[in-house]
Amino acid sequence: MAVRTILRMGDPRLLQVASPVESIPSAWLDRLLDDMFDTMRAADGVGLAAPQIGEGYRVVVFGFDENARYPQQSPVPRTVLINPRIEVTDPTQLMDWEGCLSVPGMRGRVARPTAIRYQGLDATGEPIDRTVSGFHARVVLHECDHLDGILYPQRISDMREFGFEEALAVED
Ligand code: NI
Repeated sequence: MAVRTILRMGDPRLLQVASPVESIPSAWLDRLLDDMFDTMRAADGVGLAAPQIGEGYRVVVFGFDENARYPQQSPVPRTVLINPRIEVTDPTQLMDWEGCLSVPGMRGRVARPTAIRYQGLDATGEPIDRTVSGFHARVVLHECDHLDGILYPQRISDMREFGFEEALAVED
């Protein structure tokens, strides 16, 4: 178990499309997941994608009971999601503020679909199939974007709503 270095925006590894995980479960995967949760916790994040620690695989972790970076948001169950697939179930766009451990100190307002169904595997290879909305959907969409080399600033439509956390009047 180890807290790993989080790559920051500008690192070309964050722009790559990640590869599917072929063997689940595995000792390698368990170690990767331990490192991801340790790293996410140390940075007080609500989610982390494997490419953010330089591992180009389709693995994300997320979840929290309460979080200092997003104090207004409802809890999201602690989840390991491998080789995810996402289907939009309610395309109505919701605007909300996002941050990213790879873009430290900044926030931006991003439109995301209201509800999604996500499927994938957990660390033991058991299927996950959930339909979620609101912040839970936003977290999953944000983390899964990392697997396709997309960082949230690329999804900001009005760049006036992107800036330093300390300078922005952001409520959540
Ligand atoms: Ni992120």
